[in-house]
Amino acid sequence: MNRSLYLFAAIIGSFALSCYALVIMPKCQLGGLQPQTVEDEGKIVDIYPIKNVSVEKGRAVYASEGCFYCHSQQIRDEQNGTDIERGWGARRTVARDYLFEKKPYLGSMRLGPDLSNVGSAKWRNEPENEDPKYKPAKRDAAWQLLHLYAPRTVISISNMPPYRYLFETKKIGGERSADALALTGPNKPKPGYEVVPKPEAKALVAYLMSLDKSHPLKEVKGSAPEVAAK
Ligand code: HEC
Repeated sequence: MNRSLYLFAAIIGSFALSCYALVIMPKCQLGGLQPQTVEDEGKIVDIYPIKNVSVEKGRAVYASEGCFYCHSQQIRDEQNGTDIERGWGARRTVARDYLFEKKPYLGSMRLGPDLSNVGSAKWRNEPENEDPKYKPAKRDAAWQLLHLYAPRTVISISNMPPYRYLFETKKIGGERSADALALTGPNKPKPGYEVVPKPEAKALVAYLMSLDKSHPLKEVKGSAPEVAAK
């Protein structure tokens, strides 16, 4: 009788301990996390992160297309990986970066590059590299659309699957559409036709262009904002 009581107490105890360590402690440490604000003479001059509801539709497309099966959205620090060295981000990502993401798409596999900063100015304006196979010209929204439609048109060795069903081929009625893809070679549509993104593709690219976790944060060593942050 006594022994089963001990066993029972041990089981309850281990549940209580793991509940404390895995649920209560993280909640106490991170539950009250707020966006970082930077004040200058009593006025808030900077706030990060900001809730961006306009890209929620694109986020849903990212999830439903399973982009996170091949792409992560988390930058490891220098001691734990080469993410920063590879140019995926200037600093590691921390809990505060994901404050407004109901379900962060951290990802667990990296068949493609990490996308945490794919919309950052640095990534978008990456100057043309010596080797066009890897680092093509400016990766703006038009580049992203081309890449989604036919990855090999912009990265010749790409093994990312094309997402053609997010686009439609239309007969040109009068003027060419402003967002028609500038396709060449075998991907070029028949004369009189054009390839335009469906709303899903536009929303997805708007979401990609919003991805930017490069803002300095006080808890990340070496990236503290210039003015004292709260
Ligand atoms: C089967 C794996 C796979 C899936 C699924 C996948 N990708 Fe990729 N992705 C890759 C690989 C590999 C690369 C690197 C080659 C390249 O850039 O095309 C890449 C590259 C990229 C890049 C280019 C980054 C850069 O600037 O160099 C972007 C942006 C991207 N993927 C977005 C997406 C989006 C959005 C989706 C979902 C619609 C997606 N990927 C789904 C494998 C994948």
